[in-house]
Amino acid sequence: MINNFDRSDGIIAIGGGVVGDISGFVASAYLRGISFIQIPTTLLAQVDSSVGGKTAINIPAGKNLVGAFYNPSGVIIDTTVLSSLSARQLNAGLAEVIKYGFIQNKYLLSLLSKHTDKILDREHKIIEEIIFESIKTKAKIVTKDEKETGMRALLNFGHTFGHAIEASGKYKKILHGEAVAKGMLIASKISLLEGLLTKREAAKINDLLLAYNFDLDLSGYKYSDLKPFIFRDKKVQKGKLNLVLLKGISNGIVTSTFDIKNLPRSML
Ligand SMILES: NC(=O)c1ccc[n+]([C@@H]2O[C@H](COP(=O)([O-])OP(=O)(O)OC[C@H]3O[C@@H](n4cnc5c(N)ncnc54)[C@H](O)[C@@H]3O)[C@@H](O)[C@H]2O)c1
Repeated sequence: MINNFDRSDGIIAIGGGVVGDISGFVASAYLRGISFIQIPTTLLAQVDSSVGGKTAINIPAGKNLVGAFYNPSGVIIDTTVLSSLSARQLNAGLAEVIKYGFIQNKYLLSLLSKHTDKILDREHKIIEEIIFESIKTKAKIVTKDEKETGMRALLNFGHTFGHAIEASGKYKKILHGEAVAKGMLIASKISLLEGLLTKREAAKINDLLLAYNFDLDLSGYKYSDLKPFIFRDKKVQKGKLNLVLLKGISNGIVTSTFDIKNLPRSML
């Protein structure tokens, strides 16, 4: 046994998503599982990675390829730790908050639209409320589909293209949340093309992302460069791409009917 740690010991993960993921994975595997507690210190970890039981590490063959579904005994969130977070890292977390608003939570979306300045200024009360609403949405989805056989895929809104954008930059050029913001823009444009969103709704999505200072320029990303990463994604089954689109704002759907060949060249 390592340093005499036995099954009665546990791990406390204090940090961002990287610390949470590796601690959770070690906790799941050491002595076939010891308990662990998450104390997430980035906005992304507070609203996303600390909740839902996914733990993983990256290996040379790819991201998150070794891991386990393993829930912490508890998650403790102290929003005051966010005061030292860089604006860029805060924004990366906000992309996931906005995602919950787009796929399901209308109330959260209204908070994000109404209180943009207060949120960007990290006003304690509103930050606490958007974290609470985000976790509520994630928990509702994950409780119904823990192992991602169906509706949990909704949480991947913006992630199919986002992951491809991140991977094409070898995870060095752009943060996860920044890539997800671009991915949400692409998915909303496809939703518009498919007649699922109105022009007005698509413009609203664009405007909200811009209000949170996301760089929505897609000119540096060609479909031909992203394609290998899109089709390596775990959302592809039997060659078909399972894409999360919006059938109206705050109404995410998972579909495999969109033919990626119909993606207009002008979009990427
Ligand atoms: N398990 C899941 O469900 C899940 C979901 C989403 C993302 N993830 C994973 O989470 C990781 C990203 O997490 P992240 O965005 O938290 O990144 P991170 O853990 O790399 O943290 C970002 C940076 O912020 C610093 N930091 C952390 N807390 C701070 C604080 N309070 N003040 C100042 N600096 C602080 C860290 O040292 C780091 O440099 C990725 O590896 C991703 O794959 C996992």
